[in-house]
Amino acid sequence: MKSMYDLDVPIPSKKAHIVRNIKEVSQAQRETLLKETEYSMFSFPADMLILDFLSDSGTSTMTDLQWAAILLGDESYGRNRGYYILLDAIRDTFERGDQQKKVINLILSGETNVDRLMNELYLTSFEGGFVNGGVHQLKRPNAFLVPQGRCAEYLLFSTIAPLLKRNNPKDVFYIPNNGHFDTTEANIRANGFQPVNFFSNNLLEDFPVEKISLKNPFKGNMDVDGLKKFIESKGVGTIPLIYLTITNNTAAGQPVSMKNIKEVRDVANKFDIPLFLDACRYAENAYFIKEFEQGYKNKSIPTIIMELFSYVDGFTISFKKDGLANMGGGLFFRDQGVFHRKFSEDGDIGIKLKERQILIFGNDSYGGLSGRDIMALAAGLYEVVKESYLKERITQVRDFATKLSHNGVPVVLPPGGHAIYINVDKFFAGTDMKINDFGGVGFAIELLRYYGIRACELGPFAFEWDNKTPKEREGILNLIRFAIPRNVYNTDHIDYAVAAVTELYNNKEKIPKVKISRGAKLRLRHFQSGLQPIYK
Ligand code: F0G
Repeated sequence: MKSMYDLDVPIPSKKAHIVRNIKEVSQAQRETLLKETEYSMFSFPADMLILDFLSDSGTSTMTDLQWAAILLGDESYGRNRGYYILLDAIRDTFERGDQQKKVINLILSGETNVDRLMNELYLTSFEGGFVNGGVHQLKRPNAFLVPQGRCAEYLLFSTIAPLLKRNNPKDVFYIPNNGHFDTTEANIRANGFQPVNFFSNNLLEDFPVEKISLKNPFKGNMDVDGLKKFIESKGVGTIPLIYLTITNNTAAGQPVSMKNIKEVRDVANKFDIPLFLDACRYAENAYFIKEFEQGYKNKSIPTIIMELFSYVDGFTISFKKDGLANMGGGLFFRDQGVFHRKFSEDGDIGIKLKERQILIFGNDSYGGLSGRDIMALAAGLYEVVKESYLKERITQVRDFATKLSHNGVPVVLPPGGHAIYINVDKFFAGTDMKINDFGGVGFAIELLRYYGIRACELGPFAFEWDNKTPKEREGILNLIRFAIPRNVYNTDHIDYAVAAVTELYNNKEKIPKVKISRGAKLRLRHFQSGLQPIYK
């Protein structure tokens, strides 16, 4: 109950000490820039924008502790000190809950006691978890650093494909997910596997805006019945692993409940299939569990994360999300777990992954990252689980969605953790905009042209509706995404974006249809083809 001195506004959790001024670019200048970059959102120079909602990936503002850690980065080619710190920070984050060791403090505090450094940092031995240590990491490697998430996906799928297809290259294998991210899906396909999505059945159900702080339907969940039936119909041998994405970026950034994770784990156990997480945004997902799932209110974020990861056999991750760092990715699997057992018949799978990692990205102690990146990431792992930070983050996303919704703009509700999504079909209801007029793209162009705001269509243009069969088209949602960088914008920025989107919504019949002027058949065309708005 609210007492006399309680306030109903959130308590601020941070302050800024560096400011970047935004350039004053005129509409005419933006029009020239748009024309010269073929109206492609990905090609528009970021420095000419007012607000950028293209991605929450790698775009976070780091904290002073992360910047301090950067100065302690070690650029040695072999076994830089950040490597040891990062490996233990990963154990702390995913396996130790509130019992963290924080060996990073030895380096941040300038520890000079060599015995202590050897015993607590450089010669510690671990086995049985996601990150072997000491000689066990040499004998059975299970932790692989790479530059970003998609590199981890590539490393995983390109290493297991030849093992699975060694007897018959024509064998078909499926990778089920609650919603593959686009690079994940592309890496799976490029390595000869079939990606399949089991979206939650309630994904597109309406949700009342006044309830978004009170309950959450976890629309990111996997359709477990669908998964079970699929495995039974295709045969266990055709499913090398099950993947679960938290939060579910492709399904409008919605969270996955612990209950769902456990149910998927039960299916994986029953059929003896390894369960992997695409763990981008694990901290935001954990916050939703704490806030909305029964039994978790009094548990700390680190404890929830520990429970969540205890159910899986491995994970790929982009460390560019969740405010962790601006660069980094990784692949981790449980020492001598299901994945290790199933893929080590012809020799240790970890050794095979490590060979490939060295061949493509760099040796195991840096994996294509600089020593600075590694330190920023290690420090970031402790920053992003702070509840005050997560609360402010999720509240900002919610505030954006609520304000748009109150202005009548059709946003997907409740919003997820990292972005808000506009439902394009509803947005253009009552106009003559058809699916292959790419109205979402027209909207994004106008938003940039008039207001200097960049958002991104994730619909028929991005997912290549016109190049797909009627069956394939069924799975394409028609959305525009505003991904919100972490610790970058404040309420003024959100209010500016809300006002701009509302103005366009109120003038939706003036938004142009769009033609693909170049490269409609290019692979990943979303990033590379040219566009032309058709102004009436
Ligand atoms: N998995 C998910 C769920 C993602 O959202 C992303 C990236 C990746 C994997 C790949 O990671 O970019 O480090 O290679 N998502 C970004 C986005 C690009 O804007 O949603 P990456």
